[in-house]
Amino acid sequence: MKTVHVDTGKPYDIFIERGIIDNCGEYISKISKAEKITVITDSNVAPLYQWRVLNSLEKCGFQPKVHIFKAGEESKNLKSISDMYDTLAQFNMTRKDLVVALGGGVTGDMAGFAAATYLRGIDFVQIPTSLLAQVDSSVGGKTGVDLPYGKNLVGAFHQPIAVLIDPDTLSTLSDKFICDGMAEVIKYGCIKDAEFFQNLADTNALDHIEDVIETCVSIKRDVVNRDEKEKGERMLLNFGHTLGHSIEKLCNFKGITHGMAVAIGMVLIAKAGENQGITESGTADEITAVCHKYGLPTTDKASFAEMANAAKNDKKASGNSINLVLLNKIGDSFTQKIELDKLEDFITT
Ligand code: GLY
Repeated sequence: MKTVHVDTGKPYDIFIERGIIDNCGEYISKISKAEKITVITDSNVAPLYQWRVLNSLEKCGFQPKVHIFKAGEESKNLKSISDMYDTLAQFNMTRKDLVVALGGGVTGDMAGFAAATYLRGIDFVQIPTSLLAQVDSSVGGKTGVDLPYGKNLVGAFHQPIAVLIDPDTLSTLSDKFICDGMAEVIKYGCIKDAEFFQNLADTNALDHIEDVIETCVSIKRDVVNRDEKEKGERMLLNFGHTLGHSIEKLCNFKGITHGMAVAIGMVLIAKAGENQGITESGTADEITAVCHKYGLPTTDKASFAEMANAAKNDKKASGNSINLVLLNKIGDSFTQKIELDKLEDFITT
């Protein structure tokens, strides 16, 4: 078992262990005084894991209940949150009770947001089952939902009281969803760790996925410890995401995963950095090679003008400018404010 300790305002541990799903009750009983636990999960994940989680919780003396919502980003809205509040209230959940988020990024973000706001905040535990959630979204306390105006426009920082990562759950994911998570894995190498990036190039990450997950969450932990509320350094975790979000938006979030869009965004911004004489020459090619190795695309049909225009409504924009994450070289990143009007010129290569 691997343990990574997070030292945010509310400290907690991330446990990485094959089969931990079957022992989640024991872990939770050590850190929570809850009587009732609502397990929030989606219609894809429920048939795979809900009984294993519920059995373990019951065995440890908890009164568990499950709330299932329809799988997919389309469900990530305030109506789904309202349905979750109904379940929590009808189950008479009190301040000492607990929510468990069982699933991928959408589940973690929404269950976390419901927990952050129900009774002005109750505890929650993340049990992420997708690679993207295991290496990125389950750690660091970002919770929220989409509005018709854009992704993640309503939310709260609410740290879980534990993250239980079971790498065995990755065996049920299709290649598409493994690729989705690999883009975030590659991102960590790009922004903070050249040796890790090289390791992704030289080996098959899936052959030593527990080490890979541990490295990613440790990098994220270090960043979040220093900047929990994203005032500065945490923005580095958005490398590739500004143009990635534009691409997702231009595709209406259909036919392209978040990871695919981020992979394209990382390569485009590295190319722009090279073009501007900021990023070491050859960096974009290195990122391209690793993305292709893990089945990720690195080009898109959208024009630079369309991407720059789509970025104007990005929530990372502040006033007339946006914080772009750039690389000096692999493993060495920084943010640079750029006026939105100058973005198209900046990224055009
Ligand atoms: N996924 C980026 C962050 O948590 O800050």
